[in-house]
Amino acid sequence: MLFRSTSTCASEHLLAVEKVSCVYGGFKAVDSVSFELQPRELLGIAGTNGAGKSTLFAAIAGQQRASAGKIIFDGTDLTALEPYQRARLGLVRTFQIPREFKSLTVHENLLAGAPNKEGEQLFAALVNTQARQQRERERELSEKADSVLEFLNLAKVRNVPALNLSGGQKKLVELGRVLMLEPRCILLDEPFAGVNPVLIDQLSEHIVTLNQQGIAVILIEHHLQALKRLAKRLIVMDRGSILAQGDPQSVLDNAQVQVAYMGGVA
Ligand SMILES: Nc1ncnc2c1ncn2[C@@H]1O[C@H](COP(=O)(O)OP(=O)(O)O)[C@@H](O)[C@H]1O
Ligand SMILES: [Mg+2]
Repeated sequence: MLFRSTSTCASEHLLAVEKVSCVYGGFKAVDSVSFELQPRELLGIAGTNGAGKSTLFAAIAGQQRASAGKIIFDGTDLTALEPYQRARLGLVRTFQIPREFKSLTVHENLLAGAPNKEGEQLFAALVNTQARQQRERERELSEKADSVLEFLNLAKVRNVPALNLSGGQKKLVELGRVLMLEPRCILLDEPFAGVNPVLIDQLSEHIVTLNQQGIAVILIEHHLQALKRLAKRLIVMDRGSILAQGDPQSVLDNAQVQVAYMGGVA
């Protein structure tokens, strides 16, 4: 197995989001949201544009401070933790718009971690050991990147600069970068948006395989029908709050959800 499993979760829930709110200026983008994620669960979060889905992910992964509420991951209160510290615990996210290093190759992108301050710190923490151990560590990471690329069927573009990839391949690289961090829980923000149907099928298979290997997944996706195929439980957000949650069919049949999606839940 390539990745850490969630089967050794110390607490009842892997993740507990308790009455979390997020404010931009005076605007409440997330308004007292609560839910729990079980170890090994694949949970779908849907909702129209602007519902607060990405902001909720930012609060969980640490890019955005919650203005109220608490987030507990495997028994640890995340409130004071930076994103890279949350990643070390095994909680990582992808971004709606992939953030690849354009001039680096696909393989180098995986070694660079997430292309932001936290990712760089995390990578530094991974490689910043004694000088004599460093070369060995780099070799291990390089081999790990190659196994991740193999798993994602990206080995053929290993040495291609990321700027030459298709939108769908960039999403796979983004997923590859979070897999380098040996996650226990991954938050995927609209991984299928702008991806061609063949790659959507591939990406879906990878997500299901990772979940079967023991990684808990929260998947944001605008299209409810696409989520229904993957997740056994859905949450629908609307204007910062949870509008409905439960098994996919009951959520799709929910009258308020139908109204929020203006009758078209496809
Ligand atoms: N950085 C920001 N500053 C101000 N408002 C923001 C910011 N990011 C998002 N918003 C607003 O917060 C609301 C929720 O946005 P977002 O979380 O991106 O929703 P979703 O991902 O569901 O489309 C929207 O009204 C959006 O315009
Ligand atoms: Mg979003």
